[in-house]
Amino acid sequence: MTTALETAALDVRQLSGSLGAEIRGLSLAQAGPEEADVVRTLLSEHLVLFFPEQKLSPDEHIAFGRLFGELEAHPNLSLDAERPEFFELRADGGAGAIADEWHSDLSCQAQPSVIAILHMKKSPPVGGDTLWANMYKAYEELSPPMREFCEGLTALHDAHPHDRPEQMAIHPVVRIHPVTGRKSLFVNEHFTRRIVELSHSESDALLSFLTRWATDSRFTVRYAWSEGTIAMWDNRCTQHRVLNDFEGERVIQRVTVMGDDPQPAAAARWEPFIKPFSAASRHDRQLRSHLRETGHKTSW
Ligand SMILES: [Fe+2]
Repeated sequence: MTTALETAALDVRQLSGSLGAEIRGLSLAQAGPEEADVVRTLLSEHLVLFFPEQKLSPDEHIAFGRLFGELEAHPNLSLDAERPEFFELRADGGAGAIADEWHSDLSCQAQPSVIAILHMKKSPPVGGDTLWANMYKAYEELSPPMREFCEGLTALHDAHPHDRPEQMAIHPVVRIHPVTGRKSLFVNEHFTRRIVELSHSESDALLSFLTRWATDSRFTVRYAWSEGTIAMWDNRCTQHRVLNDFEGERVIQRVTVMGDDPQPAAAARWEPFIKPFSAASRHDRQLRSHLRETGHKTSW
């Protein structure tokens, strides 16, 4: 009897110098704890994995996801009431929810999503590729003074792009991965709004640099989808974006492994920086109100 894991047949093809591997020889529909260990090891090494020609049913997809932890429920997005942790996104002709800005999934939450497992149900004939970037490398290739500076900072993330500006969280700018122990850069164009310990204008300059730097082509992989491919990525050390260059239907199904508290690479070194009563105070409003709501002791 063959098991889901046919070790001898396991084919791992690296897709770029920075991250990403295509895996064949593993049947995810029949995966159990033994296969999950193999996948975890591969994910730690490659950060995003692609399993072509899997074609999982919703229940198989959910069962595979549960091997990696508790799944997030999305009552509004889920396909049916019986499977709140399973949801489907449809984009047709460029309309709908297309994640075409660089982001790490739901970094606007106190506990951002850990692992996403996506099933490409229907891909457009051309376009709609996804890019991922390696945030370990983005951190490691900064100069030593910049690495040290960033390690002492935190950043405010919000869900403004999703019309929920009240959804906010503060995370370390450099986080440490609980499994690999490696440090990674944790700011992104889509959700990160403000470096807490810097003034508004300093924050804008640093975030603009870091978000551009982190997504430099040499840290990335670009994947062209086929129907039936399962992709799985670790949001703690990557970010991603979809290329909104396609026409026609693009249907994805996904489950998400619930988040944990991002661990800082170093203790916070400075207090939040907010200037009291100046012409530029309006830029500090959001940060000030979030700090107040979360019980941060303030002197302004
Ligand atoms: Fe995403």
